[in-house]
Amino acid sequence: MNIQENISLKPFNTFGIDQTARFFVTVRSIEDLKEALQFAKAENLEVFILGGGSNILLTQDLDLLVVKLEINGIKLLREDSEHVWVKSGAGEIWHDFVMYAIEQEWAGIENLSLIPGTVGASPMQNIGAYGVEIKDVFESLEALNRESLEIEVFDAESCRFGYRESVFKNELKGQYIICSVTFRLRKQPVFQTSYGAIQDTLAKNGVKTLSIRAISDAVIEIRQSKLPDPKVIGNSGSFFKNPTVSFEKYEELKDKFPAIPGYPQDKGVKLAAGWLIEQAGWKGYRNGQIGVHDKQALVLVNHGEGKGKDLMNLSQKIQDSIFEKFGVQLQPEVNFI
Ligand code: EPU
Repeated sequence: MNIQENISLKPFNTFGIDQTARFFVTVRSIEDLKEALQFAKAENLEVFILGGGSNILLTQDLDLLVVKLEINGIKLLREDSEHVWVKSGAGEIWHDFVMYAIEQEWAGIENLSLIPGTVGASPMQNIGAYGVEIKDVFESLEALNRESLEIEVFDAESCRFGYRESVFKNELKGQYIICSVTFRLRKQPVFQTSYGAIQDTLAKNGVKTLSIRAISDAVIEIRQSKLPDPKVIGNSGSFFKNPTVSFEKYEELKDKFPAIPGYPQDKGVKLAAGWLIEQAGWKGYRNGQIGVHDKQALVLVNHGEGKGKDLMNLSQKIQDSIFEKFGVQLQPEVNFI
């Protein structure tokens, strides 16, 4: 194990924020991981677990041990006539895993193409896009209990998935490290094309026979047209969650803002945070090195040398202005560190 000191985290977070870690180690196995945790314990250091760094905003230097998880490997565990059960190490790049599944003709995650981050981080916030969430294909995961250093298995129920939520962001926050995830994928695809953007793109591309590859290509095209490539402009995807308001509140808003998009759910109406932010005039906003993406207002961007603190302040200003204009409280999706 090679523990490094005073390492810049700029290459390890998709926002491209330049903060340092006092100690930094890459782990490639559960044994390495345990060793790193023991080192931290002996040195009385806090530990921060880093996956793809695609859902964090660094607001300070980290006076602790950053553990970069690179536990890799994809394995077909078993199959029946309808499904395959595939286990992936937490460190695999999510999009590479999706591409691998498509090559094998395993269906179920094609709508989740091009989401940044790692497989291990995917259940953490139940990643989702275009009508599919990880919980739809999730079988189980293995996580290291940070206290006992034992591996424990979580099924879907014990993960308590919700919209961009799981038990690991809530009740069990900071207590487990996800080491592998097992997915239940289909041999015969069930296509999810309910999103208008997907239908439009498939039609534009002249797709006559649906396939998981065609859907993946469409999703990639849509994402590339709206979402900035983190390799070019630092960002973390959607910065805020789409808020849900009561049916009464939605009617009230609709009276004042007739064009407001709303998606009815069981307990209320989900609003499009991107629309609210755009209406409040923030789309394309820029102040020095930071700003709001000009094609998707839900995405905050770092043009190069931006600071996490400035992005945090900008997000607060956006929240305040949305509250003032619409009486709706936005919640960040990104984790502030
Ligand atoms: N909209 C605007 N202006 C904007 C952005 C969006 O008016 O600047 C409107 C759109 O016109 C549309 C609605 O908002 O009516 C929804 O927009 P879009 O389909 O782009 O999706 P989103 O709600 O902004 C969510 C996810 C994305 C995911 C897409 C597609 C959240 C927080 N975000 O975005 O996930 O890719 O749907 O399913 O749920 C992420 O989590 O990082 C992420 C990118």
